[in-house]
This record gives sequence, C-alpha cells and structure tokens, in this order.
Amino acid sequence: TKKISIAIDGPAAAGKSTVAKIVAEKLSYIYIDTGAMYRAFTYKALMEGTDIHDEEALFRLLKGTNIELKQESGSQAVFLDGKEVTKEIRDSNVTNSVSIIAAHGSIREEMVYRQQQLGKKGGVVMDGRDIGTKVLPHAELKIFLLASVDIRAERRHKENLEKGFPSDLAQLKEEIILRDKKDSEREVSPLRKADDAVEIDTSSLSIAEVAARIIALAKERI
Ligand code: C5P
Repeated sequence: TKKISIAIDGPAAAGKSTVAKIVAEKLSYIYIDTGAMYRAFTYKALMEGTDIHDEEALFRLLKGTNIELKQESGSQAVFLDGKEVTKEIRDSNVTNSVSIIAAHGSIREEMVYRQQQLGKKGGVVMDGRDIGTKVLPHAELKIFLLASVDIRAERRHKENLEKGFPSDLAQLKEEIILRDKKDSEREVSPLRKADDAVEIDTSSLSIAEVAARIIALAKERI
C-alpha cells in the first residue's frame, strides 16, 4: 500500500498531538511533533541565555543544535543534543517564549528544512502550524483542527491536572489567546488553514471521533 503524508495544523491546544499520535499508531506511520522541535530549541536558547529577539545569535545556536524525536509506544521522547528534555519543553517559560523564537524567518527556514527531511519518505503524520501550507504542501491529506478557546483551555487544564502539573484555567486561556495571536500574526508562514485542508471543529467531538474521521479520510487516499 501507498504511504501518504498527513498534515495536521491548528491553534494551540486544539488536540493536534493527541489525535496525530493515535492516527500514526493506527496506520503504523511515524508521528512528528514539530512544535516539540521549536520548544526544544527554545529551551536551549533560554538555558544558554541567548536573547530571544536576537535572530542572528539564535540562528548560530540552532546550527549547532541537534534535535531528535524518538518514537516510544504511544508517545514521543524529545532529545536535545543527546539529552532527554521531553518534560522540560512543556514548562510555562518555554511555552511563553516559543512563539517569539518561532517568528524569526531564518529559524523557521532551518526547522522547515529539517522537518521536510524527516517527512520525505512519506508515511508520516506531522502536526504544527504551517505543515499544510509550508512544510508538506503536497501532503495527500491536510487537516485543520479547531475548537473554541474556552474548550481548548479547559481541555489543557484537565490534562495538566491529570499529569499532576500546577494549572490555572484563567491564565491558561490568556496564554493560549496570546500564543495564537503571535502565531497567526507573524509575517513568515503564519498559522493558517491551507486552501485544500479539511476543517474539523472538535468542540463537540471526542478524541476517538476526531481520530476516526481522520483515519477514514486517510484510507480514501491510500
Ligand atoms: O504545537 P505546540 O503548541 O507545542 O507548538 C509550540 C509553538 O511552536 C507554537 O505556539 C508556535 O509558536 C511554534 N510552532 C510553529 N510552527 C510549527 C509548530 C510549532 O511556529 N509548525
């Protein structure tokens, strides 16, 4: 059977990674979380004390940075220069700086190149903000996931509490609104639905229902 590429984009906390993981597992495809790549690099820049507004310094730092996504059963481990940072990249200081770093054109260019290398053989489910528009413009299936900001904040809040992370619903909502604004308003490949993407509003759907819809759409194209 043919191995297609599946692009999943959408705003923060729309359930992209949860759904993408399920779809990848069902199809025995590789899951690539591109947000984790921007997060891992942001974590490094913060650790190194690099100014997040200094694009040149950041680009030099990125050139010497190795980011690996390793598939584990049902999840993905993130390695930065050989060290696991899966948990650290979810810290709120990373979350609140990542969109500033991800807005720099040269940083995006390098990340897009790395993501295209990972995806070039097909058989991938890649999630992010610019996958359908920029990273995999020829993907056989493009999905744009949507949900109201209240629902997204509530879902992320519940997820945090289940994981035992501290969580403040009102603050989460503010952070999501701000991150979406930065991601949608940046000049270089902003968050946008590709013209040929299938939009799915997940507000009243379960994770299983969203995954089933995407798998059905994928099977039509395999
Ligand atoms: O997907 P996640 O919320 O983990 O992504 C973190 C941030 O990384 C996004 O808010 C965005 O600024 C950036 N990002 C991006 N392009 C992608 C994936 C993520 O700009 N393809």
